[in-house]
Amino acid sequence: MARETLIIGNWKMNKTISEAIDFMDTIRQEMGKTTRGVALCVPFTAISTVSVMAKEMNMPIGAQNISEHDHGAYTGEVSAEMCRDAGADFTLIGHSERRKYFGETSELTCVKIGRAINHNLAPILCVGESLEDRENNQSERVIAEQLEEGLKGFEAGELGRLIIAYEPVWAIGTGKVASVEVIEEMHHFIRDLLSARFSAEFAKATRILYGGSVKPSNIASIIALEDVDGALVGGASLEAKSLVQLTLTVGTTR
Ligand code: 13P
Repeated sequence: MARETLIIGNWKMNKTISEAIDFMDTIRQEMGKTTRGVALCVPFTAISTVSVMAKEMNMPIGAQNISEHDHGAYTGEVSAEMCRDAGADFTLIGHSERRKYFGETSELTCVKIGRAINHNLAPILCVGESLEDRENNQSERVIAEQLEEGLKGFEAGELGRLIIAYEPVWAIGTGKVASVEVIEEMHHFIRDLLSARFSAEFAKATRILYGGSVKPSNIASIIALEDVDGALVGGASLEAKSLVQLTLTVGTTR
């Protein structure tokens, strides 16, 4: 089964509801109903409004994080069920900014994957090594650990909608995109790990996205790689026209 290419914009902590509406209006004008293969992760506050507009365009909308708890006295937290209820179809889990600034561990990402699945949100598990890890030849060990721990205890059948995002920390927001050699090598490594942990079929069917300084000017060479099934895009997804450009480039490359 061919893996459908997916471009996911991650707005991070950007855009008010009215800014999000303006963005979606531009997408609608530029792309109409041809948004197949594009999705957006928006702030919690915008999920509800954006998902209504996105449904008309068949565009999946995701959260950027969920709580590890289902409900209760956890002030300030937002649960998987609430995100689903607001209109989210998927959620990022373990983004490196969550790991770095909010102390998220791989153990925690594992709990969150369970919550997402229970509430019918497709989990996108983000993994990536730091510059220090890379310089010390620890990249593969770190990625293996994040995958192993994050997916601990799950069976392939429960993880049918899982997506992996490989986002080397040193490439995020730095303008320093990883080389195509590094990307292909790491994606291949991740697919091999999924094959060993689950099955060859599972590994073949699971999408692995690359993230880190992806722009309209560099996406073509990245997306052309065998084991790259799309991109998770931060900065370049904040302008509607840039997201459209990314999508069009992918459409003509694959
Ligand atoms: P940039 O595209 O801004 O480097 O961000 C990547 C990212 O973190 C997407 O989740």
